[in-house]
Amino acid sequence: MRNDLRWWQTAVIYHIYPLSFSDSSGDGIGDLAGITSRLDYLRSLGVDALWLSPIYASPMVDHGYDITDHKAINPMFGTLADFERLVEEIRRRDMRLILDFVPGHTSDQHVWFQESRASLDSPKRDWYVWRDPGPEGGPPSNWMGYFGPSWTYDASTGQYYLHQHASMPDLNWRSPAVLEAMLGVLAFWLDKGVDGFRVDLIAAIIKDDQFRDEPVSTAYLEHRNPYYSLEHIHTLDQAQTHDVVRELRRKLDAYGDRVMLGELDPIPGLMSYYGAALDECHLPLNLHLQNTPWQADAVRRVVDAYDSALPPGAWPNWNVSNHDQSRVASRVGVHQARVAQMLLMTLRGTPIWYYGDEIGMTDVQISSVRMRDAMGHLAHGGIFSRDPARTPMQWDAGPNAGFSAPPEETWLPIAPDYETVNVAVQSEDPRSQLNLFRQLVALRRETPELRVGTYRSIDFEPNGVFAYERRHLDARVVVALNFRDADQCLDLASLAPDGDVLLSTELDRSGVEPLSGLKVRPNEGVVLRPVS
Ligand code: NOJ
Repeated sequence: MRNDLRWWQTAVIYHIYPLSFSDSSGDGIGDLAGITSRLDYLRSLGVDALWLSPIYASPMVDHGYDITDHKAINPMFGTLADFERLVEEIRRRDMRLILDFVPGHTSDQHVWFQESRASLDSPKRDWYVWRDPGPEGGPPSNWMGYFGPSWTYDASTGQYYLHQHASMPDLNWRSPAVLEAMLGVLAFWLDKGVDGFRVDLIAAIIKDDQFRDEPVSTAYLEHRNPYYSLEHIHTLDQAQTHDVVRELRRKLDAYGDRVMLGELDPIPGLMSYYGAALDECHLPLNLHLQNTPWQADAVRRVVDAYDSALPPGAWPNWNVSNHDQSRVASRVGVHQARVAQMLLMTLRGTPIWYYGDEIGMTDVQISSVRMRDAMGHLAHGGIFSRDPARTPMQWDAGPNAGFSAPPEETWLPIAPDYETVNVAVQSEDPRSQLNLFRQLVALRRETPELRVGTYRSIDFEPNGVFAYERRHLDARVVVALNFRDADQCLDLASLAPDGDVLLSTELDRSGVEPLSGLKVRPNEGVVLRPVS
């Protein structure tokens, strides 16, 4: 195995939405001590690093992405002492911790913004993006945010401020003082032993300094959010953004072996966020699989295109779900969720796994009365929200699914299927999805071809199977994933006469089989090693 690899290249990263992972205090809301109490479970999965969505002081309009103090823990999640204990316990288990870092905006309750809006000559006026009204007296540009219009008029100072998200004014990263303050935030957590950051909306840090209108886009027809009614040529992916990203990276590098993940929409420019000298994000997040139709040929096209577009030396990464999208088991169906699990754990690149997907949690229908997602209310009139993919982790068949002790109601409802879909039940079932996850992670860990090998897709007549080879030195494994609900017979004899089955998504198959007529059952994935 190559020994020049960094920990984040061979790690499996597990993404926790802290509100919903484990509640130790009984208030119906997840917390840091709850996460600490579940570390043995996480270690038992074989995952190496945890990424926590924001845990900082916040009025929670956007569940923590609206920050009022970047250096304080939200009391809802616990204290700084709880955080330090979490770090210590993570270390003890030889795991790593990645925090969310939200550079683009703060809460409008942040003292920086309060000072900024106090007067035109406030020393913090230029910490945010303020602008005189446009020629007609209205907003300075047509820019549109994720949660509706992105300019708000401030009557007391006669200017508009920019907020691409409701109640979260955009910071002005052209101000050196903002850069310095935010680098100080990184240093604060790095000094506490954090191993890296997932940087929120990294491509949106800098906006056009001439505030030009953006052209209308037809993407709105596909997406339900009015944000997509414009082509974001002046608010995303500006050349100067890369200067900022390099500054962030320099700060991390000063601390040694840390990692920077960048949240990026699947934009064509994604690869540019590795940096021309690989000096920007270690892992610009690749969300493509979340937006690709679940068909063998479509998935293959995306994987091939992404793999071949990687700049030399850049390390890939993959994920299939996160807190902003429908869960993978709801998008692809519960049977294909196992195939998706195998795909993620056998592709080339760091897998990033969303909590609960390992047991096949699905989206939970939430009535508009219980909807908690501001985007659901503001941008979608209560019709669509991100809540369904954010419900409490299902630990066991007990009250509140073992997430939280009653009598408190949990902050979002527990999924109706929790009595059968939960960690305790699946731990007892040798063929459960949870056990598949554990075995896949273990296989990846012990198989250099899967951890670090090259990737090459294999051609067939289109038949609903996506197959690829992972090769390291002289060794190789082959993965064949059946995306359809029907038997398929593959001729892989050009690779070798036989294949030794290392793992099937059904967890019931092993031994050597001829590759000239390899049978793959409906919704089955297999990993095998060609043998002569
Ligand atoms: C991206 C985060 O993933 C999302 O949850 C959040 O609403 C926005 N950034 C705003 O910070």
